[in-house]
Amino acid sequence: MSKTKKSTFSSRRNFIKAGATTAAGFMIVPRHVLGKGFIPPSDKLNLAAIGAGGKGWSDINNAYADGANNVVAICDTDFKHADRAITTFDKAKKYKDFRRMIDEMSKDIDAVTISGPDHMHGIAAMAAMQEGMHVYVQKPLTHNIYEARMLTEGARKYRIVSQMGNQGASNPGQVQMMNWFNEGLIGKVHTVHCWTNRPVWPQGIPVPTDKHERPSHLSEEDWELYIGPGEMLNYHPLYYLFKWRGWWNFGTGALGDMGCHLIDPPFRVLGLGYPTDVECSVGQVFTKDWTPEYIPEGCPPSSYVKLSFPSTTKNDSPVTLIWSDGGIRPFHPDLIPADEPLSATGSDNGVIMIGDKGIMTCGVYGASPIVWLNNGDKLEMPKDFDGGNAYAFTKPEYGHQLMWTEACKAGFDSEKHRSLTSSFDYAGPMTETVLMGNLAIRSYQTASGKNDRGQLQFDGRKKLLWDGKSMRITNYEPANGFVKREYRQGWQGLI
Ligand SMILES: NC(=O)c1ccc[n+]([C@@H]2O[C@H](COP(=O)([O-])OP(=O)(O)OC[C@H]3O[C@@H](n4cnc5c(N)ncnc54)[C@H](O)[C@@H]3O)[C@@H](O)[C@H]2O)c1
Repeated sequence: MSKTKKSTFSSRRNFIKAGATTAAGFMIVPRHVLGKGFIPPSDKLNLAAIGAGGKGWSDINNAYADGANNVVAICDTDFKHADRAITTFDKAKKYKDFRRMIDEMSKDIDAVTISGPDHMHGIAAMAAMQEGMHVYVQKPLTHNIYEARMLTEGARKYRIVSQMGNQGASNPGQVQMMNWFNEGLIGKVHTVHCWTNRPVWPQGIPVPTDKHERPSHLSEEDWELYIGPGEMLNYHPLYYLFKWRGWWNFGTGALGDMGCHLIDPPFRVLGLGYPTDVECSVGQVFTKDWTPEYIPEGCPPSSYVKLSFPSTTKNDSPVTLIWSDGGIRPFHPDLIPADEPLSATGSDNGVIMIGDKGIMTCGVYGASPIVWLNNGDKLEMPKDFDGGNAYAFTKPEYGHQLMWTEACKAGFDSEKHRSLTSSFDYAGPMTETVLMGNLAIRSYQTASGKNDRGQLQFDGRKKLLWDGKSMRITNYEPANGFVKREYRQGWQGLI
């Protein structure tokens, strides 16, 4: 695949960009003559989807926005799972290999939604960006910290409009929380708790050893494409749809799955940057007495992670952020009455920010924010508060995909681009922070050798010091092996 932007490619996209400001002046037939709701073809983006089953369906469909844009290509390694998108967008070209699609259709595709498993986000997004395509990439942005850094830099370098798929970023609740914090209601924040009930898929289990036939609709080549840059493994349903989340080869565990939703509010509200250190412990699994299972290939059944942040221009206090998953959640702070939920809806997931004047909570996706003040008062977001988002109540996922397509039309560095809530300038560093937790978890899980009694030794079970700028753990060299990954032969050099 060509690494340089093709000269022929940019012409259509440049027209789209120019169209945002000048096309109206060139139109021969005025819009009102064409009828209400008519969108001239030149005002539509040509969209493609990479990963169109599961979440990929709503990503491409929300970006299509009832015909506001065209869907010209669908790439999925499993046409059966992506059936809804394939039948809905029946004129779109079908692909199984995103590299081929990007290569063959580089002149025709303006923007791509990327919604496959986590391990292919980074390489697919980079391949698309290098061809000048705008990208919408599901959370977590990438599988590892290095890839997140590369995509953040790449979006600027290739001047494309980017958005990560943490749709809660566009929830008015986040604006409400920023307003409350900026008004000084809860004072300086020193401690944050984020928690989730995930994993809700098999996780923390021993590596499967039983043999399974590939489903008949999946060819060997489809499976090879699905494995992509990861280590080659035989087909197993535990590695496939949805369940891939529990294995480091493909997924990023509970923290990777929900961190970009739940760490988003404090990261945004407090203006956090790279953490300075991280420490964790994880749940153990016993199938025999006294000796825990050793499963470095699998994400743990639960984790408890502490990240430290220095003061920021927005928050004049160091912050300790405590993450917990696998059913472990924080306790009620004194300010939340005993009979009240910790956050919203049964508190399966939530966020608590503790300041010196009060505390602020929200549920997942920035929903239902609440402030509890030191004097006992409680503040809730008015039900009709839209935070300046015209799509807050009218479009799916608060218009998160639609606003990205509109920003693509307006062009790189346009007002609409700059007002996106999760472009990579923001989403990249936030994802790196989430993945710092995973770096600690993997260091904790991985034996460094054996002691003189023949037992596994775990030197990585300590507080890890992080130099964010240079992407290095400074006090435990093996942990740096988790900053990036090895790519399987045939998938190298894409990022
Ligand atoms: N923002 C949200 O609320 C939200 C919700 C669910 C999932 N997600 C994210 O969406 C992504 C997908 O999750 P899911 O639950 O839909 O998974 P899934 O396994 O149900 O679907 C993944 C799809 O990608 C396809 N695919 C796999 N490898 C591919 C490749 N190399 N090229 C093209 N297509 C490929 C699969 O065939 C399948 O159709 C994940 O990153 C996940 O974190 C986000």
